[in-house]
Amino acid sequence: MGEKVGTKFQNVKGTRDFYPEDMRVRNWIADAWRRVSLRNGFEEYDAPIFEYLDLFTIKSGQEIAEQLFNFTDRGGRSLAIRPEITPSLARMVNAKIHTLPRPIKWFSIPRLCRAENPQKGRLREFFQWNIDIIGEDSVLADAECVFTCVDFLREIGLTPEDVKVRIGSRPLVLAHLRAGGVAEDKLETFLLLIDKRPKVPPEAFEALCEKEGVTKEQMRLFDEFDRLHDNGRGAAPNEQVAPHLAQVDALFTHLEQMGVAEYCVRDFHVVRGLAYYTGIVYEVFDASSSLRALAGGGRYDNLLEVLGGPKVGATGFGMGDVVLGILLDEKGRIPAEIRAGELDYFVIDADEGLLGEVLKAVGALRARGLSADYCCARRGNAGKQLKEANRRNAARALLVRADGLAVKDLRTGEQRELASLDDL
Ligand code: HAM
Repeated sequence: MGEKVGTKFQNVKGTRDFYPEDMRVRNWIADAWRRVSLRNGFEEYDAPIFEYLDLFTIKSGQEIAEQLFNFTDRGGRSLAIRPEITPSLARMVNAKIHTLPRPIKWFSIPRLCRAENPQKGRLREFFQWNIDIIGEDSVLADAECVFTCVDFLREIGLTPEDVKVRIGSRPLVLAHLRAGGVAEDKLETFLLLIDKRPKVPPEAFEALCEKEGVTKEQMRLFDEFDRLHDNGRGAAPNEQVAPHLAQVDALFTHLEQMGVAEYCVRDFHVVRGLAYYTGIVYEVFDASSSLRALAGGGRYDNLLEVLGGPKVGATGFGMGDVVLGILLDEKGRIPAEIRAGELDYFVIDADEGLLGEVLKAVGALRARGLSADYCCARRGNAGKQLKEANRRNAARALLVRADGLAVKDLRTGEQRELASLDDL
């Protein structure tokens, strides 16, 4: 067998290797996701990384279906690696729907795969924090999810100047389009155009509309959108749209009460790509919208039923680690000590023949739950070992000498003698 060397083997495009420094950043993010989920009352679950192919093609929509990594197993079953966890969640809840106390507040941090064309912010393998509430139809459940999302953004150091949760409503948009005379078979086209509108220059948008056969009269519907935003609370242009606008208002009232409204804006251009959304929808973007979405979600009241269960309302979102990581990095918000890693103690022997004492000290520190290391390679003098302690970002050095112990604070340089290890 030949030896694998150099660049003969590379990771597949769109995947990432996590060297220790990258792993520390990944864990720092995942720890915050988990901490925030738990403090908001969500319980953790997980599902298999592959499922029957049908589970993902039934209701997720064209885009996801085209991005599946699917395969046939030796028993001839059609399977796929999960591109999202929401269908698995619906399947799991359906299987125990009569025994699970509702509402269900669950979270997960699955590793997902989508056969995308890799580009900035989009990879073929990524992690995605999922927050979902199942079995509660009131807008309070949506408020809980948006609050938890903002709670995390705040926790990780992103301010309302850095990021915004852009909140819209799919039924509001559909009501607005229907009231404006858009035919049922044209609604999907209009939704796609609405999604595109803020992302392309006005001339390009007009050209797109023309290509799709949108009349000048219908173009007005897009401008009326802006007025729906500007009017803000309660100012509904017609009775079809009014109840949906009232619901968005109610959501914003709750978000204000919970103290996170400054992170949130109305944006009825947000209609979401996935086909299962039925109500309030939202996406999180960096404030300048120069990156792709950090997170997206909303209400999906039909998915459980479509997957063979009863009609039970659900709402939630997913936040990927890729765009989030880019944004945190660009803004310099990843603490240096997270990248560098940390040790509580590095044990250094200043004199010959003290290996036994060094091991005793290392053992005692680790037994107390402190992180401690020493130079296994017994080649360096005290100076070299000290250099290693600094490279490892140790907070303190424990100096083991023939005549006793001393502890040196490596941040301040302060040094103090110790009578024994108990003196630490
Ligand atoms: P999604 O909009 O497809 O929703 O994904 C949510 C987030 O996952 C995106 O905003 C993005 O941050 C991240 N993401 C998606 N695809 C990729 C990719 N190829 N590379 C890197 N990051 C990516 C869903 O997946 C829904 N299942 C979320 C949900 C949960 N809705 C209700 N509950």
